[in-house]
Amino acid sequence: DAARPNAPPARRTVSRSVTVRVPAKVNVQLAVGGPRPDGFHDLANVFLAVGLYDEVTVTPADTLRVTASGPGTDQIPLDATNLAARAAIALAERHGLAPDVHIHIIKDIPVAGGMAGGSADAAAALLACDTLWGTGASQPELLALCAELGSDVPFSLIGGAALGQGRGELLTPVPVGGTFHWVFAVADGGLSTPAVYRECDRLRGAAVIAAPEPAPVLLDALRTGDTTALAAALTNDLQPAALSLRPSLRETLDAGTHAGALAALVSGSGPTCAFLAKDAASAAALTTALLTSGTCRTARAAAAPAQGAVVVPTPAEA
Ligand code: C5P
Repeated sequence: DAARPNAPPARRTVSRSVTVRVPAKVNVQLAVGGPRPDGFHDLANVFLAVGLYDEVTVTPADTLRVTASGPGTDQIPLDATNLAARAAIALAERHGLAPDVHIHIIKDIPVAGGMAGGSADAAAALLACDTLWGTGASQPELLALCAELGSDVPFSLIGGAALGQGRGELLTPVPVGGTFHWVFAVADGGLSTPAVYRECDRLRGAAVIAAPEPAPVLLDALRTGDTTALAAALTNDLQPAALSLRPSLRETLDAGTHAGALAALVSGSGPTCAFLAKDAASAAALTTALLTSGTCRTARAAAAPAQGAVVVPTPAEA
């Protein structure tokens, strides 16, 4: 550095940073039990990871810092309450380290959309920091940390398809025997997950709620890759609550159905609507129809199952 004769010799090594790519999810079954004493609900929650991804990059820094780019990121907290920041802090604490990293999130998963975007970023940050710091956490340790961060975070780490029980964090992988083609209609603005669960309880009133159980026909449809059978088996107990809080979602669901979707349902706690298509060509046509329907902010096609959180090789390693 000719301008600064006393500067240390420039190190031209690639700056150490780790990027993790992580998928969104759709719930193909979301059976919700009654409220538990801890405020959560017991679930039979069949997660399916879909090919819409966030990318989380961690780089050593003087202090913990979070930045984000992409649609809807103005709604994301960039302080230590960000779920990705909390993941870094939890892993650092466990290993006696300082969580001094810059976390940058490139968002493609709808924010507050019922597709586990925040959970995905937490799982990605955890894996990225584990890789950056060489903490070498085992998969069970990572999954336990994920479960502390949120009910959907463990699934974001493993991807594929899985049955989540308890509050959704106790996972059993589910085999998938084919590719499913989905279209997601993204709404303007998000829905608060706790508010949707509260509305679900309110709508149920004093009704006696059965213990949630996974549906064998749904698991069979996933295992055999049978799109028609999966379309007939999709259920979401949170859908009435999401529709009650956001009645316009009915028009979005109807628009997809009229445009040829095999099935239409709210994704998780919403407001994203999910449509199952017969094949990739139908999904493309459905995406176009939804984009021009005026019932959503945007529409995206994505195939499933998608791989869980994975470290993206840097250009030098690729
Ligand atoms: O676990 P997570 O932080 O993602 O949950 C967000 C909120 O969703 C909880 O605070 C709770 O209100 C609701 N929830 C629930 N039952 C679950 C999962 C989430 O009531 N099984």
